[in-house]
Amino acid sequence: MADSEASSQDLLRARFGIDVPDAEVPDAIRFLLDRRVTRRYTDQDVPDALLDGLLAAAQSAPAKSDLQQYSVVVMRDKARIKQIADWIGTMDWIATAPVFLVWCGDMRRGQRLCDMHGMPHANNNLDTFLNTAVDCSLAMAAFMAAAEAIGLGTCPISYVRSHIERVSPLLGLPSGVYPVAGLSIGWPQFRRPMAMRLPPSVVVHREHYDDSALDVQVAAYDERRRAREPVAPGGLKNNDVYPPREGVGWSENVARQLSVPERFGFAAYLKTKGFDLA
Ligand SMILES: Cc1cc2nc3c(=O)[nH]c(=O)nc-3n(C[C@H](O)[C@H](O)[C@H](O)COP(=O)(O)O)c2cc1C
Repeated sequence: MADSEASSQDLLRARFGIDVPDAEVPDAIRFLLDRRVTRRYTDQDVPDALLDGLLAAAQSAPAKSDLQQYSVVVMRDKARIKQIADWIGTMDWIATAPVFLVWCGDMRRGQRLCDMHGMPHANNNLDTFLNTAVDCSLAMAAFMAAAEAIGLGTCPISYVRSHIERVSPLLGLPSGVYPVAGLSIGWPQFRRPMAMRLPPSVVVHREHYDDSALDVQVAAYDERRRAREPVAPGGLKNNDVYPPREGVGWSENVARQLSVPERFGFAAYLKTKGFDLA
């Protein structure tokens, strides 16, 4: 929930570390500018009826051609949630959240609908895979926004895909269904500092894509972030590959992450689940 005392410009400065004088932030969207990931939860439960309301908000997200090609698995069994947390090993907050959702891309339902109507499913391709991931992500984003609006905290967990061979059978995911991300949900123990974003001038292009000033813009962004939230050497990405050191900025940390292959077996896994990615 947005800090009701902060002015719109305060919120924008917190989000970007710079003034964004031309942006107007109506009261109704202030909470979205103020959101942040939650990795510590209180013991308070999230009642089923409230969870169902949030899931209904999620299902109100748009879906490509109204095909609705996603599913979500609700996990409340503490031992099963802990099982996933233990497999991941480095994210103990997952086990402390009262609810864990696994958001899944779902091509299977469409295949079954074709089957029910005696028609072939002729769209097992990369475009359908992307559509399932986009539908799923939009629903998850709507869920997160709804949760944030009432003071709940969430943390997406892409690491369920790092243990997909174990998570998938745990949830009984059939062919055509794969996890996009997990989502921890609970009442925040505290609010983390806001993570500073790239300036709008880097992300928002007007009429034409133009990244000609990227080097300069990113150097300035690195400086702003270093001043507000320096990364401790121990928290850098891939410290086993690159020596940890003080003063590494956001962009170098991104490069440290992206220079080492991550989950390169995912396409092979999807093929075992019946996806043709051509
Ligand atoms: C698709 C997706 C997957 C993510 N996976 C993880 C994860 O596995 N573990 C985690 O702690 N945070 C995860 N996050 C949270 C990001 O680290 C977080 O959103 C980012 O650091 C920015 O912080 P903020 O959300 O507070 O602005 C994920 C976020 C997204 C959107």
